[in-house]
Amino acid sequence: MSQPHAADLIVFGGTGDLAMRKLLPALFHSDLDGMLADETRVIALSRGGLDDADYRGKVDAEVRLAGAVPDEDPAAWERFRARLHHVTVDVGSGEPLGGELGALLAGHEDRARVFYLASPPMTFGPFCRAIQEAGLVTPASRVVLEKPLGKDLASAQRINDEVGAIFDENQIFRIDHYLGKETVQNLLVLRFANTFLEPIWNSRWIDHVQITAAETVGTAGRRGYYDGSGALRDMVQNHLLQLLCLTAMEPPLRNDREAVRDEKVKVLRALRPLTGGDVALHTVRGQYAAGVSGGAEVPGYLDEPGSTPPTDKSREVETYAAIEARVENWRWAGVPFYLRTGKRLASRRTEIVVQFKDVPHSIFPGGAPNRLVIRLQPSEGIHMHLVAKEPGSGELRLRPVALSLSFADTFETRVPEAYERLLMDVLAGNPTLFMRRDEVESAWRWIDPILSAWEGTIPEPYVAGGTGPAAADELIGRGGRTWHEEG
Ligand code: BG6
Repeated sequence: MSQPHAADLIVFGGTGDLAMRKLLPALFHSDLDGMLADETRVIALSRGGLDDADYRGKVDAEVRLAGAVPDEDPAAWERFRARLHHVTVDVGSGEPLGGELGALLAGHEDRARVFYLASPPMTFGPFCRAIQEAGLVTPASRVVLEKPLGKDLASAQRINDEVGAIFDENQIFRIDHYLGKETVQNLLVLRFANTFLEPIWNSRWIDHVQITAAETVGTAGRRGYYDGSGALRDMVQNHLLQLLCLTAMEPPLRNDREAVRDEKVKVLRALRPLTGGDVALHTVRGQYAAGVSGGAEVPGYLDEPGSTPPTDKSREVETYAAIEARVENWRWAGVPFYLRTGKRLASRRTEIVVQFKDVPHSIFPGGAPNRLVIRLQPSEGIHMHLVAKEPGSGELRLRPVALSLSFADTFETRVPEAYERLLMDVLAGNPTLFMRRDEVESAWRWIDPILSAWEGTIPEPYVAGGTGPAAADELIGRGGRTWHEEG
């Protein structure tokens, strides 16, 4: 492994949830793996009025004591803590960035300088301008933008213009943490480093594809954000469409930043637009009502504690979305891609299920279609469901069985969190797993008409802890299909 280069990582929103829950634990794990240079620093920005010691104490309490990092190596934790700095600045109110931050960065212009904007999308443009006005942009600078990138195509374009006026496209890293998940990267390897799938990876052999991201958690405490978002913007526009792209894309020419992203963008452009009446026919939206989840009674979306009282807007927000999408190209003509995601569902499961067609002529009773299940979480792995004969004499009985590749059992190594991989890619300047401007905008172009058609409609209620709205079963049932629900 080559020696890591020194870097300064400047986190806007450095005391926020994302920094504490994801970024700092990921960086600590990378540090443990020897992937951070000795001089690398993390500089957290917030309005918090903290000095370095206060901030390190806060990180101790919120990251280490909360059990987010391994505890067995106190010396490594101390070394990591020494990398942490805090700068108090109210950049949102126009306070210049140059002062304390400028002094910390001065003399380190040769290092990779990463500005990580863990802040709402409307701050991206103004924060980038503040960085520029403080004279902090160097040739080795990068900016990381957290999702959501806007709330529709127009706002995404505006943000891209504003950020693009200051940073070159190859300095802009638009993060979608699903792309950093191990199984997602393995999907590309599965498809393009093996020969047996590619000949049957098309409409001739595949009946349909299901992409599911089911969560058991609700939106507790986040209704403020979620009221302005909903499942379509929060999960489908980015995570689910990215999974669809990787499943449906053509083999790229090379495994490099432009070739992979070129192929993904072609998939987004091939999505059949859903407008007007098509939206009612091919989409479902739901909102969870009270129910039982994980053995406990839980409130519905409108009664979630920790948020301001619900408004008319809250009543219209979907916490569940299902869509039947079509990729209109030679490979996928006629193959439905069913996307679904929801909060407060019966189990936590993120997976891609590729269901193959039935045998053309069945000579056995009781067969079942072959399914390839690519499981992102929990228990990352790949499972090929085949039909086999149950052992025994007498009547011939068939049963679907799985050929399974469990990553944990096979590789016996810790599966890194998505943010570890992505942060190391930012430090190394590799944007392959980040969304290019045209990708984000193509995704919004497809989502926008669905948003418009949904405007002002009330989502169907579903019971918390259940499988989602009945209309989603009807959606997939119209094609004579059912959702894959097995564990
Ligand atoms: C985030 C969404 O992007 O992804 C959250 O904003 C969601 O609402 C989360 O809970 C799911 O991520 P993961 O990695 O737990 O599947």
